[in-house]
Amino acid sequence: MNPIHPDDSLCYLNGEYLPLSGARIPVLDRGFIFGDGVYEVVPVYHKRAFRLEPHLDRLQRSLAQVRIDNPHTRDEWRAIIDRLVRSSTPVDLAVYVQVTRGVARRDFAFPRNVTPTVFAMASALTRPSAAQRDAGLRTISVPDARWLRCDIKSVSLLPNILAKQAARESGAYEAWFVDKDGNVTEGGSTNAWIVTKDGELVTRQLSNSILGGITRRSLVKLAADAQIKVVERPFSLEEARGAREAFLTSTTSFVTPITKIDGKPVGTGKPGAVAARLRELYYGYMGSPEPGAA
Ligand code: PDD
Repeated sequence: MNPIHPDDSLCYLNGEYLPLSGARIPVLDRGFIFGDGVYEVVPVYHKRAFRLEPHLDRLQRSLAQVRIDNPHTRDEWRAIIDRLVRSSTPVDLAVYVQVTRGVARRDFAFPRNVTPTVFAMASALTRPSAAQRDAGLRTISVPDARWLRCDIKSVSLLPNILAKQAARESGAYEAWFVDKDGNVTEGGSTNAWIVTKDGELVTRQLSNSILGGITRRSLVKLAADAQIKVVERPFSLEEARGAREAFLTSTTSFVTPITKIDGKPVGTGKPGAVAARLRELYYGYMGSPEPGAA
């Protein structure tokens, strides 16, 4: 077996289902050469894709923004994801879907008559552990050095990679990007939230500066339904440091408290009640019991 792919699960590549270890793309694929492609990560709980339609909507939007024709209909996407889920052993999965502009001689402008490359795989969902949830995560702050279209789920992720690596090297889970005005945009792969001293639940408003997270969207609605007021506005790093609570959201991180920013405690330094309540609401919405829940 190829040691690069010890996981030999089934994947989808350009119309075929084959073991991940056997999947190959040509080196001139524009995803490899330019990072010219977009992706999605769809959560699957107990073998059921969760919020699949908003994920497929966002994929469609990302593709349209970079002017790649969607290579599949909704039904085809559903069938691909379904087949990968059925062939996987773990019941909780993250299905990764990537579409690149395709294979062509290297030239920056779009090639003519090129067929997009489509790849999808299902991996076991690795979520923050019960210990991480109970203790809270640490985040560091880094300047937001990304481009001005962070609303597109592009596979060009170098600034995110560098930020997440800096986090890992300092023992943190996440890195929060800070814009030139000193405001937090989002995390390297998560959306950022705080609960202010006045009990206001705050997350940055949708714009080109952040990815419109599907988990973020679910939570805005769940909070509103539970009469918890959400204010969508920028917040500074200082405000976050002085907040009562902080937490992050994503498909793979759910709703997880942050108890330290740049080594300094947020609020009491312990996970807060609002994040715990929202997490509970989110698990209720998922219809899936939280692993390790009391
Ligand atoms: N990341 N912001 C960024 C930059 C992200 O990459 C992600 C998702 C999110 C949260 O979006 P959602 O709630 O739809 O997962 C916010 C995925 C999980 C990833 O790249 O692996």
